[in-house]
Amino acid sequence: MASQDASSSLSPNNYFVVIRRINSNKNTFFQVSLKPYRQVILLIEPSNKSELVSYPIRDIVQEAKKLEKQGIKMIYLNIGDPAPFGFRPPQHILDAAAEALKQNYSGYAPSEGDPELRKTVAEYEKVAPEDVFITAGLSEGIDFLFQALVDPGRNILLPIPTYPLYLTKERISYGTVDFYDCDASFEPDLDSIRKNITKYTRAILVINPNNPTGAVYSRKTLQGILDIAGEHKLPIISDDVYDQMVFDGEMTHMRDICKDVPVVCGNSLSKNYIYPGARVGYLAFHGEGWDKMKDAVQRLCNQRLSVNWEMQRAYIAAIKGSHDHIHKFNAELKIRRDLLVKRVKGIDGLSTAPPRGAFYSFINVEGPWKNDTEFVRGLLKEGVVVVPGSGFAPKMDGKHFRLVFLPKPEQLESAFDRIAEYMKDK
Ligand SMILES: Cc1ncc(COP(=O)(O)O)c(C=O)c1O
Repeated sequence: MASQDASSSLSPNNYFVVIRRINSNKNTFFQVSLKPYRQVILLIEPSNKSELVSYPIRDIVQEAKKLEKQGIKMIYLNIGDPAPFGFRPPQHILDAAAEALKQNYSGYAPSEGDPELRKTVAEYEKVAPEDVFITAGLSEGIDFLFQALVDPGRNILLPIPTYPLYLTKERISYGTVDFYDCDASFEPDLDSIRKNITKYTRAILVINPNNPTGAVYSRKTLQGILDIAGEHKLPIISDDVYDQMVFDGEMTHMRDICKDVPVVCGNSLSKNYIYPGARVGYLAFHGEGWDKMKDAVQRLCNQRLSVNWEMQRAYIAAIKGSHDHIHKFNAELKIRRDLLVKRVKGIDGLSTAPPRGAFYSFINVEGPWKNDTEFVRGLLKEGVVVVPGSGFAPKMDGKHFRLVFLPKPEQLESAFDRIAEYMKDK
């Protein structure tokens, strides 16, 4: 009886095959192993795909919270959310959301978006309402673009450094992650774009103004990218989520100069209108050749039913209403930017190109640290939370960190005092 049991537990029916993808720097390996079925009951395995998901901007918070419990008071400079720093959405936008709830905008909205919002965005973007799709923040728009464009082995050519959501989406599409470099002032390097386009490239991503660098690209660079896209018959994805937050120099929109190159622009209520919690954004398709993509995006909209309706109504009020807040916000950001530039200059081992838009700085750090993660972990113990640059730039030099300069000037000063102290004896 006992031997019968033993042999039956060895039967192939009692085992299942686990295939794990392992990415090293250069290669992808597949590890194949057998596991007894019993283990499935005891330990529920997440999918291989889910292991490719990370978000370094928030991941670092868990470590910070642990240290906070030990009594270290933290200054959080990791998340690009103006709300904790006292910035509020304009009142007329909040009123429009409240009014929409009173008027019973509580059902599912049309999947592709409230018709009036699509029309309002279309006027702003100078496209037809049918070219606009409302999404749950631009984050969902980015997800839809990857789902609609990128099959396994294909890719969207990303800038390095880049906003981490693009990295995760590329990875979970089983895309081949390819990057183009930026120069010392964080402007895209046109030769690098040319070199890194392959037969697997489906589109080129441009984030302008940029997260994580705060760069605002020159018209000449944007024109250069358009020329390359035109030569290779590739569309451009233009992430414009910070397009009104420029406090130094001119903002040129891809959409205004793209002529016959197809461009899809993404934007949201989150940054320009200081309302990230609203979770409303859009994709606007410019130019020819998008019909099948628009059909795919429509289906992606349908399967998730709709976006919060009252917040869509708030977005209408935002675009149509006063934009006074943005001038005040930019003036505040410029004060903080100037302070940041002065403090970075004054600390041995730190350097950066001054940000001209958004509210991020990507700072180079030279010192004895093995890599930027080690630097950031050490800084956590001094009570400052920033994000390791490698989260934005896996193939760069590992010598950067990203800092959000939204806090009040005195708090920012105090963060830099701590950084200076931390670096002094190194
Ligand atoms: C460059 C960039 N794109 C897109 C997003 C997503 O923004 P949301 O989903 O809030 O619209 C962010 C958020 O920080 C961002 O920095």
